Amino acid sequence: MKHQFSRTPVDVLPVTTKFRNIKTAIPAPETLKILSDLEKYEARSMHGQLPVVWDKAEDFQVYDVCRNCWIDFTSTIFVTNAGHANPQIISALQRTIDHRLLHTYTFAHEIRAKFLKKLIEVTPDQYEKAFLLSAGTEATECALKLIRMHGQTVSQTKLGIVSFQGAMHGRTMGAEMLKGDPSQSAWIGHRDPNMHHLPFPYPWAAKDSFGKKYDWAKRFQEDMNALKEKGLNFENIAGFMIESYLGWGAIFYPIAYIKALVDFAKEYDCLVSFDEIQGGFGRTGKLFVYQHYGVEPDLLCLGKALSGGLPLSAVIGSQKIMDLPEFGSMSSTHSANPLCCAAGLANLEAIESGNLVEESDRKGGMLHNCLSELKKKYSDRISWIFGKGLLAAVLFKDPETGKPDGFFPSRVCEKAMQKGLLLVHTGRESIKIGPPLTISDEALEEVLDVIKESIEELK
Ligand SMILES: Cc1ncc(COP(=O)(O)O)c(C=O)c1O
Repeated sequence: MKHQFSRTPVDVLPVTTKFRNIKTAIPAPETLKILSDLEKYEARSMHGQLPVVWDKAEDFQVYDVCRNCWIDFTSTIFVTNAGHANPQIISALQRTIDHRLLHTYTFAHEIRAKFLKKLIEVTPDQYEKAFLLSAGTEATECALKLIRMHGQTVSQTKLGIVSFQGAMHGRTMGAEMLKGDPSQSAWIGHRDPNMHHLPFPYPWAAKDSFGKKYDWAKRFQEDMNALKEKGLNFENIAGFMIESYLGWGAIFYPIAYIKALVDFAKEYDCLVSFDEIQGGFGRTGKLFVYQHYGVEPDLLCLGKALSGGLPLSAVIGSQKIMDLPEFGSMSSTHSANPLCCAAGLANLEAIESGNLVEESDRKGGMLHNCLSELKKKYSDRISWIFGKGLLAAVLFKDPETGKPDGFFPSRVCEKAMQKGLLLVHTGRESIKIGPPLTISDEALEEVLDVIKESIEELK
């Protein structure tokens, strides 16, 4: 059961800085009716978030109706990399609305052609075609279909998909099967015998009794051999689905591990798909996360920051793979919606013209330096800092037992909210940090002090 944030307004010290403004009790009493209507009329699975009712969001700031103002370190879960209500995206949307083109189903339209051309132009050469969808989970489902269709061009039994335990790929059936987490896929009622899960290569699993550098390539082979012992025939693997870092903790795979995986995939004619839905489009200081590993995946699943705020996702790959499904056999009513494509095009242009990938790398340096200092200062509380670029996760432990503490991070998020800062509440032992890549250096520095203050006051 996730932590429930209290909806009872708490009198907090007023905050007035250049970037934050908190002047009412939090949550603001004027917003309680909205929260209770949502509780009454909406499925509870949507709830559990910090009780801030967003009225307006611009660049890296979020406002409620009382003009309380927060610095946003969530980018609405890594969507608004180019800033909330980015002016280029807003004017592209306005132009499309004024032009009177809201939907065309699969009939062609010009903005779709322009957006797809731009998407393929900005991505590395091996990606020649894209298929557009709305949600990230649809993109991972689509990649599953392409991987298996490709496998079947080799042999009818080449259907196996290998993914990682605990990875996030979405909430639909195939995506939840990929997770390998029995608590979240129990509702499915059966296991797909062609889905296989590797344990995530956590850094704390790098035990080496000989004190040598841990051999992650060997570890990959050992984990694959363990699957073989359970009955997996390597020839029957159609492909790998890799969340490009483990979402809840921003934990990257060891490079040698991923390189060994990609070599294995080549040997056995399997596809490698990276799920870049969360980390893509500059979040980690490179356009895509896979570029940190020095490999070339066959497929990329994209979403979230692809459009900067509208429901748009995609799978991209070579023409040979993307054209496997017949005419009309991979389509969706809202695919390539003109508004989403207009937003997507403007968003890619904004990322390019604002040098946001390079900016994420530069500001990420500032962020990670400060977080390392924080870890030194609170070494009894903070166990790990992970991430790259403007992505970070701070993992907390219980100072007494040294074990992961799933409650303290919720309190840090709540405290930070009362001080005018929104952090990503994961419901686990981590808080996640992911401001819009447009955040100013000054605001970034201010926030690092707020995180420090919040931990200090709760210690
Ligand atoms: C890595 C990853 N894949 C897939 C998804 C699912 O995307 P969506 O929520 O748009 O369906 C998410 C969402 O958080 C994600 O982080």
